[in-house]
Parts: sequence; C-alpha cells; structure tokens
Amino acid sequence: MVDAKKSATLNLNGETYELPIFSPTAGPDVLDIRKLYAQAGVFTYDPGFTSTASCDSTITFIDGNKGELLHRGYPIDQLAEKSHYLEVCFLLLYGHLPTAAELEDFEGRVTRHTMVHEQMHYFFRGFRRDAHPMATLVGVVGAMSAFYADSADVNDPWQREVASIRLIAKLPTIAAMAYKYSIGQPFVYPRNDLDYSANFLNMCFSVPAEEYHVDPILSRAMDRIFILHADHEQNASTSTVRLASSSGANPFACIAAGIACLWGPAHGGANQACLEMLREIGSVDRIPEFIARAKDKNDPFRLMGFGHRVYKNFDPRAKVMKQSADEVLGLLGVDNNPLLQVAKELEKIALNDAYFAEKKLFPNVDFYSGIILEAMGFPTSMFTPIFALSRTVGWISQWKEMIADPQNKIGRPRQLYLGETLRDYTDIETR
Ligand code: SDX
Repeated sequence: MVDAKKSATLNLNGETYELPIFSPTAGPDVLDIRKLYAQAGVFTYDPGFTSTASCDSTITFIDGNKGELLHRGYPIDQLAEKSHYLEVCFLLLYGHLPTAAELEDFEGRVTRHTMVHEQMHYFFRGFRRDAHPMATLVGVVGAMSAFYADSADVNDPWQREVASIRLIAKLPTIAAMAYKYSIGQPFVYPRNDLDYSANFLNMCFSVPAEEYHVDPILSRAMDRIFILHADHEQNASTSTVRLASSSGANPFACIAAGIACLWGPAHGGANQACLEMLREIGSVDRIPEFIARAKDKNDPFRLMGFGHRVYKNFDPRAKVMKQSADEVLGLLGVDNNPLLQVAKELEKIALNDAYFAEKKLFPNVDFYSGIILEAMGFPTSMFTPIFALSRTVGWISQWKEMIADPQNKIGRPRQLYLGETLRDYTDIETR
C-alpha cells in the first residue's frame, strides 16, 4: 500500500473532510474514501464502477487513451512477439520473467498436471451433447473442488500454488473435452511431448483413427491468442473472481464464477457474438444497414467486437490479433473468406465514420480473435471457452495477489436505496 502525500478537501453539510490521495506508479491518482461513510455518513455512487479502484495491484496496467497494455511492466506487443504463453503465465504469477531453469521447472509442473481425474469423464456424461461448452466449463471447473479437495484450502500457500498450477494445466484439457463431447468424438488425452498450445490443438482436433500433425504456424497463432487474453486489470470476470474469493470460497468455485461472468456477450462472449453478427450481415453491401442500427438509440443492436469500457483508442491486442489473422488466413488459403471480407470492410467503414470516431469505438480483441478461431476450425461456441482458458492465469494471479493482501476482506458494496420506506403489513382482505 502507498502512503498518501496529498489530500482532497470535501465540504459537506457544513463540515470539512480531508480525503487522502494516493499516487500510483502509473495511471490516475485515487481518492481514499474508506473512512468517508464513518466520518460523513454518506456513500459514493458509481454503478458499473467506471470511476472506482476496487483494489491496488501490481500485475497489469492499461492506458486506455494511449492504447497501452502492460503485464508486470512489459508491453503486450513485445510479449506477443517474443514470449510464449507459459512464460507469460510465469510472469503474471510471480512478477518477473523466468530464468531458463525457472521456466523449465514451471513448464514441467504444468505439463504434469494436464490430465484430469478419470472419474471426471463420467461427470461430462451428465450433460446433453448440445450443451454450450461454456455451460460444461462452468459445471466441470466448479466440480474440480470435489476432485481436488487437497488443494482447495485458500489459507495454505502450498495448496494455493498447487491449485494455481492445476487450473492453468487442466483448463485446456477440460475445454477440449467439452468440445469433443459436443461433437460426439472420444476425448483425447494430453501429451507431454507437445507444448501447451500444440497440446490443446491436438486434444481438440486429433482423432484415434489417424495421425494428427499440429501445424507450427497454427500452434503459434493459438499461443498468441492465449497470450493476448491472459489478463486485463479489473474487468468484469476478474472482479467476479476477486469478489467470490473475498468470502474465502475455494479457488475452483471462484474460477467457475469468473467463467460464468465471462460468458456474457458484452464481455468474453463478444467473440462468438461478433462472428454471429458477421454471419448475419452476410455481405459487404449489407454493412450500412447494420452501421445505422448501431447508431440508432432505439435499437439495442451494438457492433460486437467494437468498443471498450477502458480503451478509447485502438485495443493493442486487436493490432497484434489483426496481424495473426492475416498470417493464419493466408496460410489456410482462406484470406478470401467472406466473413473476413465483411470484417475488413466493416472495420474500414466504422473507423472512417464520424459517429464511431466520436464515441471512440475501435475494434477490440474479440473482433479478430473470432475470425482466426473460425479459420482454425473451431465452432463459434468454442470461442469463449478458449478466452476462458487463456484468462485463467489472469484470474489466478489476481486471486493470489488478493489473498496475500493484508487488506483483504469480504467485499460488500452499499446502495442508493429508492424503494418504499417502512410500512405495515396489510391482510389480503383489506387490499
Ligand atoms: C471484453 O473490461 C475488459 O477489459 C474486457 C475485456 C477483457 O480483456 O477482459 O477487454 C474483454 O469484454 C472486450 C469487450 C467485448 N465486448 C464487445 O465487443 C461487445 C460490444 N461492445 C459493447 O457492448 C461496449 O462497447 C462495451 C460493453 C464493451 C463497453 O460499453 P460502454 O462502457 O457502455 O461503452 P462506452 O461507455 O464507451 O459507450 C460510449 C457510447 C455509448 O453511447 P452513448 O450512451 O454515449 O450514446 O458508445 C455506445 C454506447 O451506447 N457504444 C456502442 C458500442 N459500444 C458502445 N454503440 C454501438 N456498438 C458498440 N459496440
């Protein structure tokens, strides 16, 4: 925690209050209002928490105006170009880039935890085959506390470490199982001779009937998608994980809560919603109709994959994702993919339209990720599970930081109550 070097003065109801101001290493100052209610008897009001710092953190920093995203100080474009997902996981979890020995040990620990308890195969059988993989993911990850109870005690640092490794290692296996189950194919076991991304592709796309070769370009693109989705400050799903964890709930239940929140189309469900929107648009000549709908205040339609609560400039992840999209589609010979044509034309029109410029609506990470995943052969229903497995390390890193924070206490927001004041019950005969 930092010390306040200055303060703000609040004059309220004839009283004066000094509110300490904390200055961060980057980003805006924060006003410490922790004693405000006790001193002045008033709450602050901030639905959606757009002006509220819920915690202090050293993991990720976003400058929405500059379009900057840093993980432990390293810019996302450098990590996407020079690092790989498990190294980024180490960075997010432990705060520094690993030495070769540290990385080898970490990758070895993750690799040896990729299998799931064999009994979990029967757990899947309880779902309908057409269940959305996110429903399966929420259920199976929440159930992990029933299979891995020996790493569920949040007060034991060793169990926290084991649970962290288990979740990072097993989410790809569970996501791949959810996909295989939905298409009626047999589960494919993880392989220790494949790296994290190649292993996931193999578990999704190989079948027992023939050899499956993981194309290194697709594996690299997969790894880059994992990196770009790894963590993103206190977004809705991370805040859900933190709030769930504040009650002392076990890590598996808290990550399941994060997965549930991510599912929403305004958040992690946007990549699926974006592809479905591109399909609905169907052709370039129908784009103006949808642009008009996005501008129409009476139409709830929004351009999926555009806009962001924090970025008021280009989402730096979208820039890297756009390069990946060109590479992957070029490799697969589908750069004339009609969806991509619509996406590229939509991006061009939207970015040159005064409305979107004024509202600062740029393509976000979900705009291109869906196109790449579609080209790689994933059904749209698997887009958000892939986002969830990528973000697990971010949720876990934030969870570990919060548990270790001496200020950690149960989250309990207040409200602006506008309902009925005290009144007596009336018998039904008199109503
Ligand atoms: C993610 O928080 C994170 O970090 C999330 C995330 C992460 O990594 O965790 O980055 C992942 O969730 C990315 C966002 C994915 N969602 C989508 O692509 C869905 C489409 N986008 C919108 O739903 C929307 O942009 C939000 C939810 C992302 C942000 O909504 P806000 O906070 O309302 O956006 P805003 O306040 O900046 O909106 C400004 C104006 C508003 O109009 P006015 O009320 O001022 O008249 O722009 C409008 C909005 O109605 N607007 C849009 C729009 N997004 C905002 N209009 C049309 N299409 C859109 N996509």
